[in-house]
Amino acid sequence: MTSIRSVATGSHPAADEEQERMDPERAQGDAARTDAARTDTADDTAGEDTGGHADAGGQADAPESTPPLRLWGGRFAGGPAEALARLSVSVQFDWRLAPYDLLASRSHARVLHRAGLLDDAELTAMLGALDDLSDAVAHGRFRPTIEDEDVHTALERGLLERLGALGGKLRAGRSRNDQVATDLRLYLRDHARQVAARVTELSTALVGLAEQHVETPAPGMTHLQHAQPISFGHQLLAHVHAFARDTDRLRDWDRRASVSALGAGALAGSSLPLDPAGVAAELGFDRAFANSLDAVSDRDFAAEFLFIAALIGVHLSRLGEEIVLWTTREFGWVELDDAFATGSSIMPQKKNPDVAELARGKSGRLIGALTGLLTTLKGLPLAYDRDLQEDKEPVFDAVDTLLVVLPAVTGMVATMRVRRERLAAAAPDGFALATDVAEYLVRNGVAFREAHEAVGQLVAWCVAHDADMDEVSEDDLAVINPLLTADVRSVLSVRGALEARSAPGGTAPARVREQIEALGPVLDRDRAWAGS
Ligand code: ARG
Repeated sequence: MTSIRSVATGSHPAADEEQERMDPERAQGDAARTDAARTDTADDTAGEDTGGHADAGGQADAPESTPPLRLWGGRFAGGPAEALARLSVSVQFDWRLAPYDLLASRSHARVLHRAGLLDDAELTAMLGALDDLSDAVAHGRFRPTIEDEDVHTALERGLLERLGALGGKLRAGRSRNDQVATDLRLYLRDHARQVAARVTELSTALVGLAEQHVETPAPGMTHLQHAQPISFGHQLLAHVHAFARDTDRLRDWDRRASVSALGAGALAGSSLPLDPAGVAAELGFDRAFANSLDAVSDRDFAAEFLFIAALIGVHLSRLGEEIVLWTTREFGWVELDDAFATGSSIMPQKKNPDVAELARGKSGRLIGALTGLLTTLKGLPLAYDRDLQEDKEPVFDAVDTLLVVLPAVTGMVATMRVRRERLAAAAPDGFALATDVAEYLVRNGVAFREAHEAVGQLVAWCVAHDADMDEVSEDDLAVINPLLTADVRSVLSVRGALEARSAPGGTAPARVREQIEALGPVLDRDRAWAGS
């Protein structure tokens, strides 16, 4: 018996319950994670270790004398060293694959039946036990222990507890290598849709705000310097286009991720008459693997997912950075709702944009997850290597991060108050209409090079005289540059500047309205794919 404590006996029932209400699947993973971490702590005394498998209520699932179940003990004289067991165990994080592993097990049981390896009665008993185990897992009545090594071991224990020797038949023709690759694909295909749903909710909030600000002029910036006036709605929609590419990427990723690895076995396929294509179809995959070595060693789907997650993180970060700026006293474009702002423990006046900052900050860990996994993968010889166990934590962390950041950013965007007057007043600042004057001259036959020069002189004159361009008299204009006739002042209006940019994709309010209309079906399509 090792001194590694049972996962369940060390859990915090109240915290678990609360998490379970939010997401049962995650709560199980979290409980296991917390307790695995605790195996290192001083309170982990051998004396209080039961070594048994306890459920959430503290009841033992197995007698204390039962040795830990292992899926590979046959050729070994003794059990593993505790140091190896501690290094090797993954159940504290891979337990969240349990529902997917059970789903795949059901298909595998039916395949064994079709192959004549389970008779009718055995199949019925097997499916009944898998249903019962699924229910026990979903309600926390069956929990993993650290001694289970991984999710597959824990679930085989659950099956053996329910079926006795018959439970041992399910392992025929499959390996944890093809199982785990399939489980992770199932998990990710599910969660990619959840992420897409949350991204689409954020886009919906941004479009909602953009609709109110199609006509709101704002300073458009390059190099974070005033450049040309734009519609504030146009700026908000720029973020929506980035997020719409992300959801498009997820749908495109799903096409490639939709491959079942079951039937690949450890690496070479199976000598049993399995039906990989049938299993793939039952599990909702488009197809089964074409090469068994590739099936168990390919983690492109995980890396690609992490790239998309990292890019969503970068897009959230860029939006977050803008909102941080917009809420400063210097900009003052936006005020956050109290529910989405925080205070300072020492400065009573502070109202901080922590949601936007955390969105910006979390992009770092999303990028880290991607680089971590790519680094793990880069030197691996075919086929399966245990390094691949390191694929799960970055993927889970990326999913968890996005699912916690996205709703907060959506709430912040949906409730923030845009200070229209501040934006409108700032829109022409910084000689933002200078290009309009130059283009006016061009429309009257002046070469752009000369027009640029003339308006540059006008700006320099204004800077020297602390004047705005529309305050310069006709006489002064003529002295600055003879090309600057009095009528150039007719283009010195922000509204005119916006309306003039009416080429497709431009900031003219009519074009911004078109964009909003075109985004409608895009968001509908994303909602439909995400099942939300
Ligand atoms: N926990 C392992 C993983 O996540 C499962 C596969 C183990 N396979 C093996 N041959 N040891 O990759």
